[in-house]
Amino acid sequence: MSTVRVRVPASTSNLGPGFDCLGLALELYNEVSVEPTTETLASPFMAAAAQSFFAASGAMPFPFRVEVRGDVPSARGLGSSVTVRLGVLMALNRLCGETLDQQRLFELSARLEGHPDNAAAACFGGFTVVQKRQGRLGQVLRYGVDPALKVVLCVPDFEIQTAEARKVLPSTYRREEVVDNLAGTATVVAAFVSRNYRSLRGAFADRLHQPYRQALIPFLPEVIAAGVEAGALGGFLSGSGSTIACLTLAREQEVAEAMLAATPGRAAFTRTVGVDNAGAKLSDG
Ligand code: HSE
Repeated sequence: MSTVRVRVPASTSNLGPGFDCLGLALELYNEVSVEPTTETLASPFMAAAAQSFFAASGAMPFPFRVEVRGDVPSARGLGSSVTVRLGVLMALNRLCGETLDQQRLFELSARLEGHPDNAAAACFGGFTVVQKRQGRLGQVLRYGVDPALKVVLCVPDFEIQTAEARKVLPSTYRREEVVDNLAGTATVVAAFVSRNYRSLRGAFADRLHQPYRQALIPFLPEVIAAGVEAGALGGFLSGSGSTIACLTLAREQEVAEAMLAATPGRAAFTRTVGVDNAGAKLSDG
C-alpha cells in the first residue's frame, strides 16, 4: 500500500446568522498524506479519526503515518480541524478499498467535530446547508458558487479554540432574537441559491453568537464596518473566530486593506480567496 494524499478545502461557517448550519468552502487548502507503516505516527486527534473510520468500516486497523501540509491557519475559524479529520478518513477509506461513501465520511467527520457546518462545506464544496436535529444529521444541501464572489479573510494573530468560544454563548434566547436570525438565515440561503449575491447586503446581522463572542474579538464590528464601507456586501465572524470574513463582488484589495487598517495594530494578515466548488478530493483521483 502506498501513500494516499487528500486535498481538503478550508471553510467558513455560520455566515453571520446561520449558526451551526451554513458553510462555505474556500480556495485555501491543506493536503493530508497517509502512509501505511510499521508504527503509527499520528497525533491523538488524528488517531481518533482513524479509530472512528476503522469502527465504521469494519476494516482491520493498521499502523500509519500522517503528514499535513498547506495554507489553512489553525484555530482561526477556518475549519482546519476538519481538513485533518476528513483527510485522514478519506485517505484510510481509499487504502481500505473505498467501502464508505462521501456522505458516511461526512457524518463521521461531523460527529468528531461536534457540529456539522464546516464538515459539510469541506466535504462537498460550495455553499452548504446542513441540519442536525436532536443529535441526528440530516442531508446536506449544496449549491455551487459563482467565481465572481470573493471572500476577504482578515486573520488576527491570535487563536481561538471553538470549545472556548461556545462556552461564552447563552443557553436560551429571546423570541425576537431568534426571529431576526431566522430572517437573516433565510435571506442568506435565498441569495446563494438564486446567485443574487447583491441581496446579501444587510443579511449577515446575527444575535445568537457574534454579540457574545465579541468579548473574544472586541474589534469585530469595526473590521466588518470597514470592509462594508470599502465596498463589501457584508461581513461576519468566520466560524467561532478569530478570522473575520467579508464577501465582495468588487474592490477586493480595498476591502482587505480597510479590514486590516481597522484591526488594532494591524496585527493580522489578509487573504482573498474564491469559493471552492469541488470539496475534498483524493489528490490522485
Ligand atoms: N458553528 C460553529 C461555531 C463553528 O460557531 O461554534 C465553529 O468553527
